Amino acid sequence: MSSSQKIDTEERNALQPQHDTHPIARARHRRSWSRRCRTWLMRSPSTGPVEESSSAHFQPSRWSTPPNDTWPVEGLRMSSDFAHRPVMADEVVALFAPVPLGVVVDTTAGAGGHSVAILDAHPHLEVLALDRDPDAVAAARRALAPYGRRARVVQARFGALDEALAGSSVTSVSGVLFDLGVSSPQLDRPERGFSYRSAGPLDMRMDPAQPHDAAHLVNTMDERELARLLAENGEARFARRIARRVVSARPLHTTDELASIVAGAIPAAARRRGHPARRVFQALRVAVNDELGELESGLSAAIEALAPGGRCVAISYHSGEDRLVKAGFAEAVSGGCVCPPGLPCTCGAEPLGRLVFRGARRPSPAEVAHNPRAQSARLRAFERSTSSSPAPTGDS
Ligand SMILES: C[S@@+](CC[C@H](N)C(=O)[O-])C[C@H]1O[C@@H](n2cnc3c(N)ncnc32)[C@H](O)[C@@H]1O
Repeated sequence: MSSSQKIDTEERNALQPQHDTHPIARARHRRSWSRRCRTWLMRSPSTGPVEESSSAHFQPSRWSTPPNDTWPVEGLRMSSDFAHRPVMADEVVALFAPVPLGVVVDTTAGAGGHSVAILDAHPHLEVLALDRDPDAVAAARRALAPYGRRARVVQARFGALDEALAGSSVTSVSGVLFDLGVSSPQLDRPERGFSYRSAGPLDMRMDPAQPHDAAHLVNTMDERELARLLAENGEARFARRIARRVVSARPLHTTDELASIVAGAIPAAARRRGHPARRVFQALRVAVNDELGELESGLSAAIEALAPGGRCVAISYHSGEDRLVKAGFAEAVSGGCVCPPGLPCTCGAEPLGRLVFRGARRPSPAEVAHNPRAQSARLRAFERSTSSSPAPTGDS
């Protein structure tokens, strides 16, 4: 991996989203979710360790604009100001091949790369593409315009998936895709405030209409709350030191102010793994956008909404995301069974479906060589049963 690619990956790792309730309340809620996860994880098939987060790969286009403002790139059309190589697109397309006729919800449309691949490969499917970022919505609309009535793009949070489905009059869902993480445009534009590498406002909101930005958190939380937020979302080791320095330096308004305070709080000897501010920016981004709370709500709504034989496919880029996906699918497979592992179920839980394959799939070495940012991707898939007794978990 080149140094610039490594830097991009590190920055992307440091990025994640929240919605409208206060982050502390969301964090408390998530702690109870984490406890439930631990129980479910004891019952679910294990996977290998998950590396640091990365994300799908957006890059500003280097070519000139074609007449229809979209790009033919390796068979995919892409918006001229978002050129994106969707991660594990072949696997995603193959996983949606057997789903029933109907609508696939791409909950993280971005530039629309996965949506385009699904629409091209499966003429029996339509796509409802969602994104919370208005810039991504505009890009996805341009990319999906050639598909006419087969594709709709709506600005929405997947944490409010039920409302998005109701608002779009979608009653039967053939598939749901989550391609988690952040986009390069979110990362690359200093004014969005995600990057510790360029000076910008301490913002980090995926949707600029969200009420609380990163500056609000940094300047209003008390020291203990801030330390806990950092520790829970990635910066476990120096959370208290950093929180102390931040609180004594505030008010903070810019990314570079925060990055230099963090750098000063972390001992030089501990700075071997990337930029010292990487984990702090990731922790704030996760809190600002409530990325894990969004995933928890979105995943369970997606599983509920699936038609018989419908599939939910999730690509995660760091262990916090992957744990939630794994636990959410495991709960759906067990139907929320609370009986001791290894004993017959007597609690009356009804399994909702099966894992399409055990564990998580990873991108091929060829894809990673082509797109290093795919390296940390982990793909899992769940299929809603077609009858009240689902097929056992297996490969397909
Ligand atoms: C990795 S990109 C997706 C790229 C996309 N699959 C493609 O092929 O172009 C992740 C996208 O998810 C969006 N996103 C993140 N959290 C979201 C949420 N809770 N609701 C809706 N969109 C979200 C981000 O704004 C970003 O555009």
